[in-house]
Amino acid sequence: MRGAVNLADVRELARRRLPRAVFDMVDGGADDELTLTRNETAFRELLLSPRTMADAGPVDPSTEVLGQRVSMPVLLAPTGGGRVAHRRAELAVAAAARAHGTVYVQSTVTGFPLEEVARAGGGGLWYQLYAPAARAEIPAMLERVAAAGYRVLVLTVDTPVFGGRERDRRNGFSLPVRPHPRMLLQGASRPAWAVDFLRGNLPTRRGGRLSAWATQRQILAAPRPVTWADLAHVRDLWSGPLVVKGVLRPQEVPRLLDAGADALVVSNHGGRQLDGVPATIEALPAVVAAVGGRAEVYLDGGVRRGTDVLKALALGARAVLVGRPYLYGLAAGGQAGVERVLELLHAEFVRALALTGCRTPADVEAGLVLPAR
Ligand code: FNR
Repeated sequence: MRGAVNLADVRELARRRLPRAVFDMVDGGADDELTLTRNETAFRELLLSPRTMADAGPVDPSTEVLGQRVSMPVLLAPTGGGRVAHRRAELAVAAAARAHGTVYVQSTVTGFPLEEVARAGGGGLWYQLYAPAARAEIPAMLERVAAAGYRVLVLTVDTPVFGGRERDRRNGFSLPVRPHPRMLLQGASRPAWAVDFLRGNLPTRRGGRLSAWATQRQILAAPRPVTWADLAHVRDLWSGPLVVKGVLRPQEVPRLLDAGADALVVSNHGGRQLDGVPATIEALPAVVAAVGGRAEVYLDGGVRRGTDVLKALALGARAVLVGRPYLYGLAAGGQAGVERVLELLHAEFVRALALTGCRTPADVEAGLVLPAR
């Protein structure tokens, strides 16, 4: 892991460690992967305009999100299914976020009970909600989330059905994992992964680890649209900060804010849902303008470099979230792998601040990004 000098190296380590079907589940997107690719290329096409000779002083990359201090404006996005990449999955990610002083958003789709993950995260975690099929189940779910110590609720609204994940269909991959001959064959050529997977997923005396999936079978089988009525219901029930994830259209922003959203995540689900929507960095400025400072705005999708974090902040995001980057780290090295990814992003972001004459994230202003040509 130490030899990995950037995220592309970490991704390559993950590619070599995981069976093809598992790597593709993490790495892939919907349909032609136009949006998946565009999330990254749109960042690359944005050019920077550094301030020179700024007497900025020592860099401090820390910031606050919804009143919570974090070591840098990079949070860990909710991802389901990490258990196939590494036996400790959410527990390892939560512990890494805690060690690094940032937020991990725990997904509804999880390999471990949300209480165990909350304990591993030490109190700093947020919880992402997929609406259960029956609205009547929401109050009990939210009570459980609050009792476990999650302070912030993130409602994902871009998953009325799952996007068309063609790599998964080609590989015969679905969650929860049902091992089949081709996967076992692939696993045989990835012994380190196979041993880890078997240790983590063979039935135990406690009833078998795979049983942790049982509660989510329904969501995995058939997600359902989140409606404005659901949002109002959740807002009534949840007294802490509420974040809506999956916003791309500025037209919806006023209604979201009136409904009580405290923050929005400009997200296309990492290009895994509707293919053909803009890159999130392209969608960000219009959403920020529509919000007009009434809520915090975050972005996820395609963030791979410290300079990407800086670009998102320059265009009005308060923070970014990353998904695949830490999953590559998880696959390559468990908790240490996730921590390595956080270290890389931290070092790159600190360097990006210094090279553009900024001391803190608050110094990052719109003029640091050149207008698109
Ligand atoms: C996700 N994402 C996601 N989002 C969510 O709200 N709930 C979830 O359970 C999941 N699950 C999930 C699994 C995997 C394997 C991936 C890669 C992604 C989307 C995620 O939160 C985030 O929006 C994207 O991952 C951001 O894009 P990048 O950073 O992966 O490019």
